[in-house]
Amino acid sequence: MSQRLTVNLTGHAYEIAVGKGLAAELSGALIALNAPSLLLVTDENVASHHAPAIESLLASIAPTRRFTLPAGEESKRMAFFAALCETALSPPALERKSVIVALGGGMVGDIAGFAAATLLRGVRYVQVPTSLLAMVDSSVGGKTAINANAGKNLIGAFWQPSAVICDLAYLDTLPAREYCSALAEIVKYGVIGGEPSIDILEAHKERIKARASGPLESIVLDCLRHKARVVAQDERETGSARVLLNFGHSVAHVLETFFPQRYLHGEAVALGMMAALRVSRAHARLDKHAVGRIERLLKAFSLPLALPPELTRQDLLAGLRSDKKRASDRIEYVVTPRLGQATVVSLPIDDALASLILEPA
Ligand code: GLY
Repeated sequence: MSQRLTVNLTGHAYEIAVGKGLAAELSGALIALNAPSLLLVTDENVASHHAPAIESLLASIAPTRRFTLPAGEESKRMAFFAALCETALSPPALERKSVIVALGGGMVGDIAGFAAATLLRGVRYVQVPTSLLAMVDSSVGGKTAINANAGKNLIGAFWQPSAVICDLAYLDTLPAREYCSALAEIVKYGVIGGEPSIDILEAHKERIKARASGPLESIVLDCLRHKARVVAQDERETGSARVLLNFGHSVAHVLETFFPQRYLHGEAVALGMMAALRVSRAHARLDKHAVGRIERLLKAFSLPLALPPELTRQDLLAGLRSDKKRASDRIEYVVTPRLGQATVVSLPIDDALASLILEPA
């Protein structure tokens, strides 16, 4: 049995199905799209577990080809994007009404989505996220991108999927570190919007960490409900709603730039959130007790709390200066005045901000 949510966008609304064992939902979504051919995009790790089953399901709907990327963030770059596009365009070539199926974590969804946005000036795609992080964040909302030498996700487009199928059965094969890393993004939803609430996360932390299906399905739905609402309000992050999803991400992006192999995205977000909580204490009057609650929750999910001692003040300031949310020498910093709420403050990128961020946890 699946639960369904709608991302209400005028002219291109789409559904998200959430549950365990969703082959029928995936078939139904693809049959409804009536594609003359399908291109399955995945990575080697996911393919080794799941490609045969998905491929035979897709082939029963329309002629299907597969493009498999090496696993890992390194594949999210121009050379692989070009290879993916050239494969798609070689005979039997993708047509305007064909559909790309992105089966994998955030890397696969981002590059396959960007290929969908650009091939033949735009073809449809369906997101089938296999990681918890992709389920609660990147598979929904149409942010597609590849990385540039100058930074992550700098070449991309907003291009919404036609459907998202979040099959929680994929999480059974997810490595523990990757699973826990995604819990940081889930805590983020609790901090910025109270969906899921921090109370619920605290009450069920052991069962969530153990991947118990009941609480897991309910928190994934909470996150997706929040994300779907925000995307419907502010599809292209031009208003004030979507930017709040970047809570913890200013420092996370600095860490991902200066320590590219050290942290998984969610781990960098956990560290970024701890920094954002310190900034929130100083600039949004967040109370100390709230910081302690989030710190204990992140710790329970085996997430890092202390910034690496090698992160210098200079690198931190340089990293913040290349943030997408920077305007001249100020940064739009997402802060929380109380758990469940978020807002943006404009702060100078200076020593005072660096000191707050670098304060020991
Ligand atoms: N990952 C943040 C967003 O989709 O806006």
